[in-house]
Amino acid sequence: MASVSIFVGSVYGNAQHVAEQCEEKLVEMGHDVTLFGEPEIGDFKDAENVVVITSTTGQGDLPPNIEFFAQDLRDQMPLMTGKSFAVAALGDSSYGDTFGGAGRTMFDILTELQGSPLADLFIVDAMETFEPEAEVVPWVEQLFKIN
Ligand SMILES: Cc1cc2nc3c(=O)[nH]c(=O)nc-3n(C[C@H](O)[C@H](O)[C@H](O)COP(=O)(O)O)c2cc1C
Repeated sequence: MASVSIFVGSVYGNAQHVAEQCEEKLVEMGHDVTLFGEPEIGDFKDAENVVVITSTTGQGDLPPNIEFFAQDLRDQMPLMTGKSFAVAALGDSSYGDTFGGAGRTMFDILTELQGSPLADLFIVDAMETFEPEAEVVPWVEQLFKIN
């Protein structure tokens, strides 16, 4: 059993919904899961495995609910050496260069904090699917499969 902390960045609720579906799946698999919709740095420090599920807003920007969280991570640099992380980004490729920008930002921050990536950044394109959970849930399931 793994302890998994899911940090959600969402403006209109899509990423929040995807995160809740992931939580449900991981709990069903026997993991201990906590979901943070208004994350704080203490939640991050307590986490054993970090999963970030975030949409992108503005021009490649972080959703407001994780803006300060991300800033605190940058300012305080709480190293997560040896801890695992994974980032799923909901985006829309019609935004061009800023496609999945918030996911990239979070992936970069966690890399700087010396986390160990369980997978490459996973970006889901709203131009290709109306059901991001159908892609993200199997992805997260694979990451935390107990062999
Ligand atoms: C105002 C606005 C700006 C957006 N900017 C971007 C962007 O820069 N890059 C991107 O990949 N997606 C962008 N998107 C697409 C959203 O990330 C996508 O629709 C996502 O599913 C929204 O999820 P949420 O409901 O959790 O916020 C934008 C959407 C809106 C409405």
